[in-house]
Amino acid sequence: MNVKDLYIDFFLKHGHKQIPSAPVVPENDPSVLFNTAGMQPLIPYLMGQKHPYGTRLCDYQKCIRTNDLDEVGDTTHHTFFEMLGNWSLGDYFKEESITWSFEFLTSVLKIPVEKLGVTVFSGNDSIPFDKESYEKWLSLGIKKERIAILEDNFWIAGESGPCGGDTEIFYFRSDEEVPQEFDPEDDRWVEIWNNVFMEYFKEQNGAVKELPNKNVDTGMGLERITSVLEGVNDNYVSSIWKDVINLIEEISKLPYKGNEQSMRIIADHLRTAVFISADPAGIKPSNTDQGYILRRLIRRAIRHAKKLNIDIFSNWEEQIAKLLIEKYKKYYKELEENEKVVLEVLKTEKEKFNKTLEKGLKEFKRVSDKDIDATTAFHLYDTYGFPIELTKELANELKINVDEKGFQEKFIQHQELSRTASKGKFKGGLSGNSEIETKYHTATHLLNAALKQVLGNDVHQKGSNITEERMRFDFSCDHKLTEEEKIKTENLVNEWITKGLEVTKVEMKKEDAIKSGAECMFIEKYPDIVTVYKIGEISKELCGGPHVKNTKEIGHFKIKKEEASSAGVRRIKAIIE
Ligand code: ALA
Repeated sequence: MNVKDLYIDFFLKHGHKQIPSAPVVPENDPSVLFNTAGMQPLIPYLMGQKHPYGTRLCDYQKCIRTNDLDEVGDTTHHTFFEMLGNWSLGDYFKEESITWSFEFLTSVLKIPVEKLGVTVFSGNDSIPFDKESYEKWLSLGIKKERIAILEDNFWIAGESGPCGGDTEIFYFRSDEEVPQEFDPEDDRWVEIWNNVFMEYFKEQNGAVKELPNKNVDTGMGLERITSVLEGVNDNYVSSIWKDVINLIEEISKLPYKGNEQSMRIIADHLRTAVFISADPAGIKPSNTDQGYILRRLIRRAIRHAKKLNIDIFSNWEEQIAKLLIEKYKKYYKELEENEKVVLEVLKTEKEKFNKTLEKGLKEFKRVSDKDIDATTAFHLYDTYGFPIELTKELANELKINVDEKGFQEKFIQHQELSRTASKGKFKGGLSGNSEIETKYHTATHLLNAALKQVLGNDVHQKGSNITEERMRFDFSCDHKLTEEEKIKTENLVNEWITKGLEVTKVEMKKEDAIKSGAECMFIEKYPDIVTVYKIGEISKELCGGPHVKNTKEIGHFKIKKEEASSAGVRRIKAIIE
């Protein structure tokens, strides 16, 4: 059995239920682009909501962390990783959590105790020292020299949310003799597991209060534990990556040795791109949010493929993606279900970028005899499709600078220009401002609200598109709508139209808008001050407008078609008569 299966098996034996890995794009949390930890989809339950699977859970969760995307290329960084996790929702606490982690590492994975060191929370002004964890570790045979008591052993995802003191387990990854004393600052000690005792909640304003339950949240990175167990110092030579790297060697006809950086980047970025494009959210490469990350990953992989002299016009990316899908499909069925979509996304983006890459690199060469100014960086972006990060990477290799701040200013200016040019296109897919399109736009908000009433609050807008002839609306939903659901939705929209509800608009701070419960697709897209459109008491959405003043201006609304758009996303086509 591999570590993933052993882990799940172990916690099932200790009364846990396995929960499925949540999608990489969070379903109900617009504050982050991707799930970055196993606990993220569990936040409501850590805060006290009852989980349908009970109080002991375990899983392997797909995580994406892109803040160090540009670090990928060394031995340890990945943009995608799998996190093994087990949770207690007000069930067991420190005693069992620490005992089981210890037992799993030493009895199941057979890691010698002598190679382990742990950290424990020292406490601070308001929270006491975690004596219980300290004593538990001692009782299990961890020597006191191997326990570091630290003040920053307090874990929280971001700025606010459920949190608590934690105890981390480290492994001595080196052929040298294990020092008597554990020093968490010494790089030879690598963290392999983090057990967080989540009993607090930190508010936006910094205040900390107790949660209704004392919970446990743990996380162990699969890539890291695998390389530890296999005794390798480069994650990319572990069994997780070996076959992928071998295939890249085969395609490029070059050895890994001497070409490590580019091969690691290709392997890592394509794996992440495969998982993002297979996600039910239906992300496609674009210039914003998740789509931009996807674009950057694919384009950076292509650039490095070119560095390895791979024929970038061949199907190299397809071969690698197919291998990745084959490797992971047993655990993540969406990879197989969406294989066609994934291959199409990669191919289309590749073709788009390949068209200009050669010329772009030539242009870069021409202008890189000195620092790259804002205009040049923007030109590379706009004309040759170079994400700014690519320009920076190329500049870095030549040890020249890029005026990134100037680029960002130009970028914003450009966005505003194109936004004015097609007012409203920004949100809601409005392509023009004709009277009929304005009506469709308001009808989109009504449809969004009606779907929530008929299908439940989990329904969220995933996209929309409006022409003079019809509207199209994509939303998250796991089933084909029944005839009854369609009729109910249509009737509700028409009822609101007939009622003649006022459409009003207010400007407010983005955070206040979100607090007030206003709907919005991608929060990051919006400036600090946003416009919120309200329709009577039934709908409140962040939106650029324009809208009708009163719903009775809309006319009669009719659903023409309801169909699948991508996995977990449905599409409605409707008209106004
Ligand atoms: N949520 C904790 C982490 O990500 C376990 O480290």
